[in-house]
Amino acid sequence: MSSGSLTQREARAQFPALDSGFIFLENAGGSQVPLCVIHAMEQFLREDYVQTGAGYPASDRATSTVTRAHQFCELLMGAEDRGRVVLGASTTQLTHMLADCISRTLEPGDEIVVSTANHEANAGPWERLARIGANVKWWAVDPKTGDMEFEGLANLLTKRTKIVALPHTSNLLGNIVDVRQATDIAHQVGAKVVVDGVAFAPHRLMEVGQWGVDFYVYSTYKVFGPHMAALFGRHEAWAELEGPNHYFVPRGEVPRKFELGSLNYEGCAGVVALGSYLTSLVGASSLDRGTVARAFERIREWEHPLTERLLRYLCTKPSVRVVGPFAEPRVPTVSFVSDRTTSPDIASRVAKRGIGIRHGHMYAHRLTEALGVDPETGFVRVSAVHTNTTEELDQLFETLDAVL
Ligand SMILES: Cc1ncc(COP(=O)(O)O)c(C=O)c1O
Repeated sequence: MSSGSLTQREARAQFPALDSGFIFLENAGGSQVPLCVIHAMEQFLREDYVQTGAGYPASDRATSTVTRAHQFCELLMGAEDRGRVVLGASTTQLTHMLADCISRTLEPGDEIVVSTANHEANAGPWERLARIGANVKWWAVDPKTGDMEFEGLANLLTKRTKIVALPHTSNLLGNIVDVRQATDIAHQVGAKVVVDGVAFAPHRLMEVGQWGVDFYVYSTYKVFGPHMAALFGRHEAWAELEGPNHYFVPRGEVPRKFELGSLNYEGCAGVVALGSYLTSLVGASSLDRGTVARAFERIREWEHPLTERLLRYLCTKPSVRVVGPFAEPRVPTVSFVSDRTTSPDIASRVAKRGIGIRHGHMYAHRLTEALGVDPETGFVRVSAVHTNTTEELDQLFETLDAVL
């Protein structure tokens, strides 16, 4: 450990919301933000809240903030010099934008393979392309475990497959898919891969350049930042598309051609500020790719005991069916159902004790159905991040003991 790095307690103290006494175990829905993010957004709103590109000092600072937000996301995602990041309001908005651009390159009968394990943000936009004659094929999961078998993927691919859309981590299962392998398989037939990294990004190092993915998207509000999202695309992949921005914005101008209207500038300030948190987490003197890698290694180390404890506890309850893997590689997002009572009942009884978890299909509606669970009531999901503590889990278990 480098001398100036933060302990887990010190890291936790950076997040003012965690002082409230409420226990946040619904982080897969959205994480809290550290003080540096709050301060950066406040400072931007106080001092730099003007339109970009006007040529006076505040406008220059706003322009620089937006540029740095793109650069920060590229660093965080490991884009290296292989591609660019387009920012937007949400992952759902960006995947719809992308699918719309890609639709203009498709011929009737072209094929799109979509994983049933996707959050709807990376399923619906592709399914809609059936309207223009695309042949949408579903890459089914194992109905018991939710596993995504690569053999199943390979069997669906043909020379006409143009897109494979999959999650890196399911926001229900907490699994980690081998994205490099999925990409290699898809590339054998010349298909492009679009990976939803939303449920992966808060927990592990993104390495989009290494994985060779064509497009990869995550939501900044799940990674200790404001409500925005970032979509990486390889240079060649962007170059094939006509972006939706105004006709006078040149076709090759990425990211601008793919960003409609003004971005959330104060959000960009918050996105950039996360770099300070990651830097202080590992006591680094500057923010570079090594700092980001070490920060996520630290995050993984702190999460690991939480994941183990949670799974071990749930395995002691015979009435409980846990979905997703029982060991690493996985993230601390764990979903289950109980045959003792309903998921809404469990979540509401836990909420009464000042603990936030969630029930439902979590917009993984197709996956919930595939796993044989009624989406109306859905699963109970407990989702931790590196700032959660074993004491918080133990408080959750006390409440669950009474319910399960
Ligand atoms: C795995 C996954 N993908 C996509 C999304 C959608 O993100 P956004 O709200 O940014 O559209 C979520 C949100 O919960 C998610 O968990």
